[in-house]
Amino acid sequence: MCGIVGVVGNRNATDILMQGLEKLEYRGYDSAGIYVINKPESGRLIKSVGRIADLRAKIGIDVAGSTGIGHTRWATHGQATEANAHPHTSATGRFVLVHNGVIENYLQIKEEYLAGHTLKGETDTEIAVHLIGQFVEDGLSVLEAFKKALHIIEGSYAFALVDSQNPDTIYVAKNKSPLLIGLGDGYNMVCSDAMAMIRETNQFMEIHDKELVVLTKDNVEVTDYDGNAVEREAYTAELDLSDIGKGTYPYYMLKEIDEQPTVMRKLISTYADDKGNITVDPAIVKSVQEADRIYILAAGTSYNAGFASKSMIETLTDTPVELGIASEWGYNMPLLSKKPMFILLSQSGETADSRQVLVKANAMGIPSLTITNVPGSTLSREATYTMLLHAGPEIAVASTKAYTAQIAALAFLSKAVGEANGKKEALEFDLVHELSIVAQSIEASLSEREVIEKKVANLLATSRNAFYIGRGNDYYVAMEASLKLKEISYIQCEGFAAGELKHGTISLIEDGTPVLALISSSETVAAHTRGNIQEVAARGANVLTVVEEGLDKEGDDIVVNQVHPYLASISMVIPTQLIAYYASLQRGLDVDKPRNLAKAVTVE
Ligand code: AGP
Repeated sequence: MCGIVGVVGNRNATDILMQGLEKLEYRGYDSAGIYVINKPESGRLIKSVGRIADLRAKIGIDVAGSTGIGHTRWATHGQATEANAHPHTSATGRFVLVHNGVIENYLQIKEEYLAGHTLKGETDTEIAVHLIGQFVEDGLSVLEAFKKALHIIEGSYAFALVDSQNPDTIYVAKNKSPLLIGLGDGYNMVCSDAMAMIRETNQFMEIHDKELVVLTKDNVEVTDYDGNAVEREAYTAELDLSDIGKGTYPYYMLKEIDEQPTVMRKLISTYADDKGNITVDPAIVKSVQEADRIYILAAGTSYNAGFASKSMIETLTDTPVELGIASEWGYNMPLLSKKPMFILLSQSGETADSRQVLVKANAMGIPSLTITNVPGSTLSREATYTMLLHAGPEIAVASTKAYTAQIAALAFLSKAVGEANGKKEALEFDLVHELSIVAQSIEASLSEREVIEKKVANLLATSRNAFYIGRGNDYYVAMEASLKLKEISYIQCEGFAAGELKHGTISLIEDGTPVLALISSSETVAAHTRGNIQEVAARGANVLTVVEEGLDKEGDDIVVNQVHPYLASISMVIPTQLIAYYASLQRGLDVDKPRNLAKAVTVE
């Protein structure tokens, strides 16, 4: 993962880098560093273990310059130490490099090209910068040395390189890791994410894989690795500076949970016209119509959103849906149907595992649709079609509004396809109206946050383990609810099919084990889940129920407003997001930046 920021030609380089790193911190937060330079040989390199705030504390007013590169790290090779933190320097210290990604052949490079080199840390990045330095020592120009290294290096990378003898230039290249150019007035920038540059500019330029960019204060020269010039238009980002602030919220996660009613309404206005007609791109609808099977590929929360949408898609479109864990399918693609359609669900649009699947699908000529929150992201660029989630930037590592937006976006797609197929269920489903009711139901659940906070204090304050149980769609919501709880509270939690518990896992239930039960399906299903609740309660479990209105009974803990069954996963997940939030808060953890995690998982 990791985040990269660089700027050339701006006297406030240090400030730009630090502000950028703060915005990129969601990408990794175990160590960070910056290199700033003004005139040849005057560079300053400052690194720190820990958060960006720890790095900031080490930066005095003397750390100034007009060119610089910065990095926030999520460790892959080597622990989170200062020696392993970026930027890294070449053997003589002349070249300084930041990197996001994984260099697969770094040990081979070390053996073949770097005999006699002493390395300070254990990272693959340090080997890359030593390699470039070595080629310059051997007599190549900086550009030639960089190109030669790029021809040798295998794996994923986004690089920004500075030559301390010529600080007017940043050399940039990428393969499979995100990187973007930001165009300023009299200066230019490079960064992993537009969000980190939006304070300075809204003009951006994409870099594609295996392209090299020579960046100076007033020039951006893009070529392929053989030196052939590439023409690339700039574009204006729709992002707003206020979108990426926390406002008065203590954490981004709470802000993003609260934004969900707005996101539902935004999706209505995006994918339906004033008369309620669905406006999903007809080319996408046709492509899905032609498929004999829909394959949804995703990771983590996005994968859970795919499951939560499966039966709705199947009912509305009459097309079977199969789910795949992207990290598995990238290397173990199962036997596919005759006319498959791949849907890549991804908040970030940058998940390396999902991209691996997409690369394969493209090679096999399979039509694909990326449903993502980030326009211009890698998955969006490389798929046949894109649908955007319009959820606004999601910054907390724990995904909330992207999950609900994914289900809603899939509902629009399914309705459009079902209508085109003449399916009665789709024609009769008033999605615009039903989604407005969902938005109200979310608002009602959000207004109950204090009740939820108290329930969590009683149930989860000290527990190490917990279970979420449910049947049908509630089971899929249970999967997401347990992921959310694990991710930010560090409580080991499993989402389980309620009826499956007694086939083995019930042996884990003991006095006080928290079991959170979700009930939103029919009376019959609800009755069965209540039976399973009795079974765990009889063995000492401490049970909390989240029940849809109409199926509720006296003594239930949280009652959720009733919505259309196709959309119940959206309304049922809301209390579970708050449960995870308060469990993390009450344990004194960093809600937005849980340990060991990063927001965009750009390594396989
Ligand atoms: C969600 O809370 C997680 N942070 C994680 O599971 C995430 O959903 C997963 O890494 C997939 O990311 P994507 O949606 O950006 O592809």
